[in-house]
Amino acid sequence: MCGIVGYIGKKYNALNVLISGLERLEYRGYDSAGIAYVEGKTLKIEKEKGKISNLKSAIDVNIPSNLGIGHTRWATHGIASKINSHPHKVGKITIVHNGIIENYEDLKNELINNGVKFKSETDTEVACALLNKLYEDTNDMNETLCLFQKRVKGTYALGIICDDDYNTLYALKNKSPLIIAFGENENYIASDVPAILEFTNKYITLNDGEFAKITENKVTCYKDNEVINKKINEFEGSAESIEKNGYEHFMLKEIFEQPEVFKKTVFKYTENGIKSLIKIMPDFKKYKSIKIVACGSAMHAGIVGKSLIEEYGNIPVDVEIASEFRYKKLFIDKDTLVILVSQSGETADTLAALEIAKEKGCDTLGIINVLESSIARSSDIVLYTKAGSEIAVATTKAYSAQITLLSLIALNIACSKKLISEDEIKEILSEIKNLPIKIQSLLDKKDDYKEIAKKIYNKNNIFFIGRDIDYALCMEGSLKLKEISYINSQAYAAGELKHGTISLIEENTPVIAIVTNESISEKTISNIKEVKSRGADVVLVTTESLNKESDFYNEKIVIPNTHKLLQALLTVIPLQLLSYEIAKLRNCNIDKPKNLAKSVTVE
Ligand code: F6R
Repeated sequence: MCGIVGYIGKKYNALNVLISGLERLEYRGYDSAGIAYVEGKTLKIEKEKGKISNLKSAIDVNIPSNLGIGHTRWATHGIASKINSHPHKVGKITIVHNGIIENYEDLKNELINNGVKFKSETDTEVACALLNKLYEDTNDMNETLCLFQKRVKGTYALGIICDDDYNTLYALKNKSPLIIAFGENENYIASDVPAILEFTNKYITLNDGEFAKITENKVTCYKDNEVINKKINEFEGSAESIEKNGYEHFMLKEIFEQPEVFKKTVFKYTENGIKSLIKIMPDFKKYKSIKIVACGSAMHAGIVGKSLIEEYGNIPVDVEIASEFRYKKLFIDKDTLVILVSQSGETADTLAALEIAKEKGCDTLGIINVLESSIARSSDIVLYTKAGSEIAVATTKAYSAQITLLSLIALNIACSKKLISEDEIKEILSEIKNLPIKIQSLLDKKDDYKEIAKKIYNKNNIFFIGRDIDYALCMEGSLKLKEISYINSQAYAAGELKHGTISLIEENTPVIAIVTNESISEKTISNIKEVKSRGADVVLVTTESLNKESDFYNEKIVIPNTHKLLQALLTVIPLQLLSYEIAKLRNCNIDKPKNLAKSVTVE
């Protein structure tokens, strides 16, 4: 949600670094973009509405500059327009901002009474004016930043340039991500590492309440105006890992990376069989219940996890939408484990839920993809998904890696409570080894899903129905379809449809029906027949063992059998590819769907 990049140094031209960084950050917001850079002794600002490419074609990237900040926006306060886009400049201060200043209206009124005239509708310009006012009062940037932290409520990652010192770049963070990266006699700031990975992989993460004074050869970090030392990290992935590598879209590349991601995510836990799983994972036996808290697809992964943990681990699990969890009455205590699931590790609602859980005395476990992210750093225990950088806004590989870890948690609990036989453990371990090949076999059928997509891509409503885990997968399939193809879609528990929603089924309404669980397959098939007899065009997604010729479907996708603990990881593949092919046929912007941003750092 908004991306920030900044550069100070002589090795590269600042404008090149800013534009290339913004291109890599564009998945965080693409309403508008802008840069501020110092040319000679003058600070210049360029902004454009729309994509980074609009900004790029409006500027000359060869203008020499050693200092600059850039921003790609996902609008919160004020429409997407040139005037509302960042950077904002008031007096001597120029800033780029990610986050929301919650008390901006009070601050704005106060500043207006002090004679400040605002040009934009943004909270960011208010933050900028406040910084300028505090700097006028103190004439000292460190003091200004400390006073700013006391006055401002909300979330912010800021990159700041002061006109009195074009040899310094400032960075300040509270609840929005910000890293500082180190080159040779040149330094960077960015919302995340991929933005600057082509230049360096060494970085530190600023924590909430910290700020940094950055020159071309020195980075000094502060908390409460006291110098603090920070450990330098090295990012594991390469710059190539964040390229499309010949794929038409990042989403497609990421869907195709799933066999490898699965191997990487499970390897650590199963390399020495079940012993390593039990050794590395926390002791879940001590908890009476589990809450899984997350948003969007991560929450859908949680619903798959709930079903598996309850069935195999025999512990009650609730799944909560993080934005609801944080404002409701909670019945949790030290006997409840709260699991936070998040790809980015920065989702504002999930982060807030984590803090509430800790206040209530619960142990917290983060299932996180981004190393050193806020949720990872604040959770008591972290299990990392090894999905690598996910660039497409619609999650695919990170979602399946989340399910992988939740399945391993279910297996771990079942093993440590001795609820599962040796034979079944052996079968699961052997299926874990086979799974990447089975995932690949489904990826290889991409063209078959394209043929199905051709039959339904121009419909206005598409339904997904299923029961239990298949229903959880329906939710994810439906979300994928909505977000990238803009087709209205609903996921329904198959047995619930007849209680109202079946009235929407008409001649040729597409219904994607998932049937993978043998014990309830007949029940779901009855529900499918109910929609078929009302004219629906049914796309059946079923397993090899349940596959039979019949007239209750129009199209069929058959997925390999595996152990129930792993089945969702196969079922989701055709759903992802079907959405992808439908969105492609509709000429949608697949990697950057409208109105969305990858990392949702606002409430
Ligand atoms: C959908 C999608 C979102 C995210 C949600 C949570 O494709 O990506 O629904 O799953 O915004 O994000 P994280 O996992 O970063 O907390």
